[in-house]
Amino acid sequence: MEHAISASPRTHANAKSAAINAKAVRKHFGGRTILNDVSLDFRPGETVAILGPSGGGKSTFLRCLNGLCHFDEGEVRVGSRTLLARGRTAGHELEQVRRSFGMIFQDFQLFPHRTVLANVTEAPVRVLGEGRRSANERAHELLRRVGLQDHAEKYPHQLSGGQKQRVAIARALAMKPQGLLCDEITSALDPELKAEVLKTLEDLKREGLTLLMVTHEIGFARRAADRVVVLCDGKILEDGTPREVLDSPTSPRMREFLQCVLG
Ligand SMILES: Nc1ncnc2c1ncn2[C@@H]1O[C@H](COP(=O)(O)OP(=O)(O)OP(=O)(O)O)[C@@H](O)[C@H]1O
Ligand SMILES: [Mg+2]
Repeated sequence: MEHAISASPRTHANAKSAAINAKAVRKHFGGRTILNDVSLDFRPGETVAILGPSGGGKSTFLRCLNGLCHFDEGEVRVGSRTLLARGRTAGHELEQVRRSFGMIFQDFQLFPHRTVLANVTEAPVRVLGEGRRSANERAHELLRRVGLQDHAEKYPHQLSGGQKQRVAIARALAMKPQGLLCDEITSALDPELKAEVLKTLEDLKREGLTLLMVTHEIGFARRAADRVVVLCDGKILEDGTPREVLDSPTSPRMREFLQCVLG
């Protein structure tokens, strides 16, 4: 399997990772309560696996943390920035929050008509105003770190799913984020490609990046997460260490869910 992340100095993250504090977040869609008073604190550098049954509110919650989705009540603090309910967040606060936590999705969302290199340099040049030369240099370094140094001139359609997802990770890192919000980013991948991407994330974890991962990878959660949070019907069902939550869950609903996932 192609993979080569070296223990090179940190080039992707700001000096300090940010904490995220969600306080009493409520979200409704068409009269239905999707997030019901969710309060969660994430420490800088923490890797948290967010699990739970389909429709439980995991993606919605992650999107609320990044300001991609408005919530109706509550507050979210990301480092020194605050997201307010009902979209009342000031524009510059929202921009800073989005910069500090990159979001990665299941379907990669790469620009199809741009090379790998251009995908990675686009935002640093356009949004951060970084010079083309320096952006290119950093992009090559990031591609090397996700094991794609030989693919810079390719287009997304010439890559495997696992490679595309690693480009998406490099692209998010190019914005020098303090953490990554990952929404089921390995769900569409074959087992071997899944392993490549999870390995990349484990390397980033070791380097201190805050990682919040919505995932169905129980093995990854057990191995790499500091903490497992379970969201079900818009509420926190479990919150603890992987051993606590996965080996001795307190709620019958969680035991049922684990039985389904583990088969
Ligand atoms: N834009 C929307 N409009 C209306 N309802 C929505 C919208 N987005 C999500 N929902 C509803 O909110 C609930 C939570 O959805 P969400 O996508 O957050 O769940 P999830 O836990 O991520 O599920 P999955 O594991 O299937 O991805 C679901 O019932 C969904 O139908
Ligand atoms: Mg989801």
